[in-house]
Amino acid sequence: MTVRKITDEIYWIGSIDWDRRLFDELIALPDGTSYNSFLIKSKNEGLLIDTVDPAKKEEFFQNIEETKVEKISYIIAHHAEQDHAGCIKDVLQKYPECRVVTNKKCKNLLIDELHLEEQNFFEIEDGQIFQFGNKRFQFIFAPWVHWPETFLTYLPEERILFTCDFLGSHLATSRLWSEDNANIYHAAKRYYAEIMMPFRHLFNGYLGKLQNIPIEIIAPSHGPLYKKPDFILNAYKDWVSDKVSNEVIIPYISMHGSTEKMVYYLMDQLINRDINVTPYHLIYTDIGKLAISLVDAATIILASPTVLTGPHPQVVYAAYLCKILKPKAKYAGIIGSFGWGSKMEEDILQLLKNLKVELLPTIMVKSNPREEDFAKLSQLADIIAKNHSSLK
Ligand code: FEO
Repeated sequence: MTVRKITDEIYWIGSIDWDRRLFDELIALPDGTSYNSFLIKSKNEGLLIDTVDPAKKEEFFQNIEETKVEKISYIIAHHAEQDHAGCIKDVLQKYPECRVVTNKKCKNLLIDELHLEEQNFFEIEDGQIFQFGNKRFQFIFAPWVHWPETFLTYLPEERILFTCDFLGSHLATSRLWSEDNANIYHAAKRYYAEIMMPFRHLFNGYLGKLQNIPIEIIAPSHGPLYKKPDFILNAYKDWVSDKVSNEVIIPYISMHGSTEKMVYYLMDQLINRDINVTPYHLIYTDIGKLAISLVDAATIILASPTVLTGPHPQVVYAAYLCKILKPKAKYAGIIGSFGWGSKMEEDILQLLKNLKVELLPTIMVKSNPREEDFAKLSQLADIIAKNHSSLK
């Protein structure tokens, strides 16, 4: 890779991970990702903003050399997760006088993770201004984007905001700058859904803070940088708002076709009532796509056969995903089937109990659905249509 200039003294020195397909052994990366690290040059000295994933260490140090700095004096560490902090120890070994500029929480996490010493750090407070060369760095604490230690850094003269994970996207691209296209919007929404959504109740406050400062460039640590900050700020405002869309999502499994009959019948009934609906077959679906749908769908219907008295394990997984991602859906329901007995409803409700949703009537069918079962599904579609009437 090579370095990219953002301004005369600010360089992108990160790495693009074109082939990475899984993050945290959990999150699919269909489009790879990037680890954006930045170097601010003052004469022959450098200040780093975050590092890169340890797998890209060699490329990272080559990039530092390319900027021709003689030493690295500081690293601002916004976040202790390894894809940004993983090369800090190597930087300190190469430049022993370098100090890690971060807050107390991040310092403690880094000491635990990287076995650093107290003397390696320069501890900062919220709102503090740090000077390096002719540049000022203002720190804006923003806990839970997406760990408790996270913060942002603003350069008032350059009007650049470095946001680490916040406002980023998992997208490998040779384009340094976002071009406001659907591809980046989609990647940023997937990223928000999978990583940021559980903390959305905090974001209005952070977005409000950012509204009060002039920003010309937003530089996250994953994906392209934004020269038109409104593109991503407005997207976030929309995603974190309480506004839901006229959409029903149906994560489902069917073992012998009975539950699938119910799902497809309900879908037809909803479509006939002008309601958007998307089924997610949980064996084949990309869980990231399901997460994206959870950002604004008004209604979630979980559909499952009964397996050994409970829901199918894949449906348990989907319900658990809803529980931890905390979507803003207003309504949730359960449909499904059983052969001789089931406590599926009880098990799924247990998983959903922390969601602030109004529960719809559960419809359970013994074996194969009959006419009266389809009539109940039509009634369910009527209830959903009534609930969604203001969303069309
Ligand atoms: Fe990109 Fe939370 O690390």
